[in-house]
Amino acid sequence: MFNLTKIIRPNILTLEPYSSARDEFKGSEGIFLDANENPFGSLNRYPDPLQKSVKQKLSEVKNVPAENIFLGNGSDEIIDLCYRIFCEPGKDKALTFVPTYGMYEVSAAINNVELIKLPLNSDFQIDTKSCKTYLKDTDVKLIFICSPNNPTGNIINNIEYILENFNGVVVVDEAYIDFAGSNSLSAKLDNYPNLIVLQTLSKAWGLAAARMGIAFASTEIIIYLNKVKPPYNMSSPNQQAALNALDDLEIYQNQLATILSEKEKMLNAFADISIITKVYPTDANFILIKVKDADKAYNQLINKNIILRNRSKVVADCLRITIGTPQENEALLSAFKNIQL
Ligand SMILES: Cc1ncc(COP(=O)(O)O)c(C=O)c1O
Repeated sequence: MFNLTKIIRPNILTLEPYSSARDEFKGSEGIFLDANENPFGSLNRYPDPLQKSVKQKLSEVKNVPAENIFLGNGSDEIIDLCYRIFCEPGKDKALTFVPTYGMYEVSAAINNVELIKLPLNSDFQIDTKSCKTYLKDTDVKLIFICSPNNPTGNIINNIEYILENFNGVVVVDEAYIDFAGSNSLSAKLDNYPNLIVLQTLSKAWGLAAARMGIAFASTEIIIYLNKVKPPYNMSSPNQQAALNALDDLEIYQNQLATILSEKEKMLNAFADISIITKVYPTDANFILIKVKDADKAYNQLINKNIILRNRSKVVADCLRITIGTPQENEALLSAFKNIQL
């Protein structure tokens, strides 16, 4: 049975969080002489620490109650908070399936937490048999699953098997879910008290600069995320940028449709490019390809000011290509035709 208080570090269970006078005063009008701000200017006031307006809007767009939403300064902040809440440095462990998003490992190292890296199989799926013993290891407190996975691009199956058979917390990172056309696991929060779903406005919503990461989780988990986060982790301009984007669904839908149709165009075009030896199926806004000599191809493209992600150290001879504008994609296709390997 999952028991949240057994998973949380003892110092976090008893932590007295920072509280400001504005946590006690609920109104919005008043003479604010409590926070040592400058009384003049337009950015002179601290932002809403709980980002209530953004959560309300997100709740409507994502169909998740506002009390089940936490916002971080990018999902990267939330990944770090998860280590700090659930993993005792030097003692507890976390687990992930590789190749995957690099910040799970970087954050583990920063927090002095051992990260067990189990390989995905040749279809980039979880091998449930080989992870069984790890699911029973009580030192493993946290599992990160990225779906659609970065850099492979595919949706991961069997996540519910992990949720059902693991008594720690499972973080499902859905940064690319908007491109996948499949349902978010956030619809199943009531079934899984050990589930945290991460999403972000950095990808399909076009707000990477505004650093708006989202966690959907039980109200109990949200309490601890709020306790541990820095009090004012989202700036007011960034909260406003999120509100503006969430208010304009048409822009989001149009950009999403363009990116998806460009992805189809690129997938078709890649089939005729001789240096590309394999194109992996993708549910994201990027495509993983295998080429004859990834380092050489990468460097030749860099010399033309076209920057791809060289993933050949994690998947042999692979490059990851983000879908750009139609013009950028055309430029890549013509550059590909001139590569000499
Ligand atoms: C799987 C995954 N999660 C999270 C992030 C970071 O998201 P954010 O910009 O919200 O920190 C990325 C960025 O590339 C990503 O690929």
